[in-house]
Parts: sequence; structure tokens; C-alpha cells
Amino acid sequence: MLSNEAKMIVKSTAPVLEEHGVAITTRFYKRLFEEHPELLNIFNHANQAQGRQQTALAKTVYAAAVHIDDLEEIMPAVIQIAHKHVSLGVKPEHYPIVGANLLIAMKEVLGDAATNEIIQAWSDAYGVIADAFISVEKSMYQNTAEQENGWNYFKDFVVDRKVNESEIITSFYLKPADGSNVPTYIPGQYISVRVSIPGEEYMMIRQYSLSQASKPDEFRISVKREADNDPNGIVSIFLHKQIKEGDRLEVSAPAGVFVLDAAKTTPVAFISGGVGITPMMSMFETVATSTPERPAVFLHGARNRYQHAFDEDIRQFAERMENASYKTVYSDEENGFITREMLEEFVDPSGDAYVCGPVPFMVSMIRELRNIGMQDEQIHYEFFGPAMDLEESTIQ
Ligand code: HEM
Repeated sequence: MLSNEAKMIVKSTAPVLEEHGVAITTRFYKRLFEEHPELLNIFNHANQAQGRQQTALAKTVYAAAVHIDDLEEIMPAVIQIAHKHVSLGVKPEHYPIVGANLLIAMKEVLGDAATNEIIQAWSDAYGVIADAFISVEKSMYQNTAEQENGWNYFKDFVVDRKVNESEIITSFYLKPADGSNVPTYIPGQYISVRVSIPGEEYMMIRQYSLSQASKPDEFRISVKREADNDPNGIVSIFLHKQIKEGDRLEVSAPAGVFVLDAAKTTPVAFISGGVGITPMMSMFETVATSTPERPAVFLHGARNRYQHAFDEDIRQFAERMENASYKTVYSDEENGFITREMLEEFVDPSGDAYVCGPVPFMVSMIRELRNIGMQDEQIHYEFFGPAMDLEESTIQ
């Protein structure tokens, strides 16, 4: 329990910390990796280089601190992050390491302004926040381990097939190396893939949405080939260029909260941009298979027809359904964007909409879905890369 005095200190100093948040967490990560270089096997180096993760962690700690009286308030965010942590293999023993280094960084950046009293209050608050994460993650690990064919952390998989879906998107069909089956997952969930790239000192992990409906014996991910000089593209390039059928990759169990409610039969719209199509494939195939009578719409924006993946698959799923429509627009062509008018024409505002794609695409789709009369609880989305901070994710 946090004392009332500590609560007051934390709440009153949160704005100051927020102001220096990026400086503190930049310092924090530098220290963390100097002291614990083994953590570079877990963290995404490209995110570090771009400063994205710094902002995400800092803002979450301050947002949590402001809600320290009522952590229930931020539970949805905690759960979403915990899914990510579990998928990456974050363990309880990592929390004190992160906490200690965060507090030292705070002290270094704030100097004399960070009195012992303030540091002690933040140390106590971090303990409360960390306990909330640890307990949510503990039950997630338990659930995953108890699930049929489930496992914790990473397991060896073999690339069974590698299939080109477009000029830039390739699917990898993955089967457990021990010949076992895979657990059932909810459409929209993702897995982590861990690779050791020759010449790189540390292992690298990336998350990919599962891109087909749950199958008993395999996972499918579909990966966009990033530009050769994109630091974030190192794993994507490695998978595309080096990984062949028959090679092994390490994979963690499915996780994630951006999921289809497959029990519903009300109208549903899937709206994706670029490689954001991947979770939609899993959701659309599930609707086509389990509730083919459900009114469904698939709207997709790609750069051009050569970069457009899964066209034939979507058509085939739509044919099996009683009331499905499908439309793609190409941004290289005139009027090649999904507009409010198109949403008005295709999307039933009484149903649910799932949105996935680059951030500007999602911001504009969410705004336009609201404009055609949908409420926030009907609009489901997930940002790729580190989640936006809590306020931004609500897209004012
Ligand atoms: C991702 C918060 C502790 C490792 C994240 C994200 C947030 C966050 C907001 C971004 C989520 C997203 O992308 O959707 C926190 C908070 C913590 C905490 C508030 C403490 C209370 C830890 C610990 C570890 C860890 C102890 C393990 C050493 C990671 C990693 C990522 C991540 C590896 C993925 C992003 C990347 O690779 O750069 N965390 N985290 N976190 N967290 Fe944590």
C-alpha cells in the first residue's frame, strides 16, 4: 500500500517528470543496457534508436502514477501492454531492474529537485504499478501454459512454406519443430518471432499478426519487406532474404487484445491500409467460416495492385458469405483513398468496425467512422509499433 503522503508527492510531481520524461527515459535506457546488456535480447533496438519506446514507457509510468488511487481506471492499457510483455518473455525479476534504473535516471536528470522524499515516493509508486503488471502477467502466463498445446516463452518452429502474397508481402507458414499442434487463438492476435541474425550480437524479436483463421497445426504470419536501409527492417529483410523453407525460428504463444468478437452476428467492417491487412485476414476468414451469414465489409487501401496482397483469398471468402462486400483502392491512382463517402456507402454504423494500418491512416479512419455515427465502443483498432500514449490513443 502506498501512504497518502507518497500519493500526494507522486501526483504533484508527475507533471514535472512528464516534462522531463524523454530525458529521463533516454538516460534510463542507456544505463539499463550498460548494466544489463542481456536485456538487448528482449528490447527492439530500432525502437530505442528512434526514441519511440522511451516515450511509451515514460508516459505510461506517469499516467499510471496519476491514477495510483484507482489503477482499475488504466487496467485496459495495463492488459494491452501485459500481452506484449508476455509475448516478449518479460519476467517478474526484470521489474526491480527497470525500477532501480528508472529511479537513478530520475535523480540524475532532476538533480537537487529530486529530494530523497520524492525519490522514495516514486520508488513506492513504481512498486505498486510493477505489482499490477506482474500479477496480470502471471495469470496470462498461467493461462497460456494451461491451454492445450500452449507454452511459455519461446518454442522452436519450422518454416513449412514461404509464399509470396504481393511484391512486398510474404507469408510464412510455421509449424512446431516437435511435431505438436498449436493452440487455438482469437482472430486478431499476434505472435513474437525471435531470430539470431549472423553478425548481430543480440537476438531480435518482432511481433506479427497471425494472418489466417486459427488452424490446428500451423500459424501463418505475413511480413512486409522493409527498405534495406530502414533500421526497423532488419528482421523483415532477414526473413525475406535469408530464411528458407525448412529453417527454424523461435516463436511465442499468441497474445493481444485487438480481437474479433466471433460470437456476434451483427454487421462488421474490416478496414485496413497496407500490411495492416494481416489481422483482418484472420478475422475475415473466421467470419466466412463460422458465421457466414454475418453482414461483412472488407475495405482495403494499398499503394498499387502489385503491392496488394490476398486479393484472391478475400474474394473467395466473400463468395462463401451471404452478405459480404469487398473494395480496394490504390493510392497511386486518382481518388485512391478510403473516404468518408465510401465508409457511408459500405459501413453499417450500427455494427462494429476493425481498423488496422499506418498511424495516419488509422487516425483518419477512426475520425471518419465517428463522423458517420459510430461510437467509440464500436471502433476497434491497434497501432503497430509501440502503442500511442494513453491520451493520444483516444484520438481527440
Ligand atoms: C513495451 C510500459 C516494464 C520490456 C512497453 C510499452 C509500454 C511499456 C507502454 C509499449 C507497449 C506497446 O508497444 O503496445 C512498461 C511499464 C513498465 C514496464 C509501465 C513498468 C511498470 C517492463 C519490463 C521489461 C519491459 C520490466 C523487461 C525488461 C518491454 C519491451 C517492450 C515493452 C521489450 C517492447 C518494446 C520494445 O521492444 O522496445 N512497456 N513496461 N517492460 N516493454 Fe515494458
